[in-house]
Amino acid sequence: MNETINNTVEPNTWLKLTEKAKHAYHKAYAPYSDFRVGAAALTSANKIVQGCNVENASYGLTVCAERNCIAQGVIGNESVDTVEFSAMVIYTEQEKLTPPCGACRQVISEFFPKEALVMAVNHLNQQQQWTVGQLLPDAFTPYDLINKT
Ligand code: THU
Repeated sequence: MNETINNTVEPNTWLKLTEKAKHAYHKAYAPYSDFRVGAAALTSANKIVQGCNVENASYGLTVCAERNCIAQGVIGNESVDTVEFSAMVIYTEQEKLTPPCGACRQVISEFFPKEALVMAVNHLNQQQQWTVGQLLPDAFTPYDLINKT
């Protein structure tokens, strides 16, 4: 029998996530690329956390909005269990919607179940949605480290 996975996110929750991601977008520190990104994610404790991209004069040290957002969830976690996220919005003002980069897909796979949803949204309210499993199939995750020999 197929297990039904509940990965539905209420329309109102998507709206709140989009608002928070847009707010984070306006905080982005992107003087080198001028490519701002905002992200917001819903934690299993029903909290919304935010992140924006933070660039650096030493370009390679730039951190993406998605990874800063996850870091905020880790810092704000009040549970003894590892924080888990169920949805993320990535907001940009680009006509082409912004998907998460490869490094972010790996970090997302660490903290989100593979059924969780990630949605890119832009200022025209265009949207594209993926599951975490679609973004990074067969990801290397903490489960791969269980029973290491
Ligand atoms: N960036 C993100 O923050 N998230 C993405 O999903 C794609 C790229 C940032 C990194 C850099 O500051 C700028 O966008 C251009 O690559």
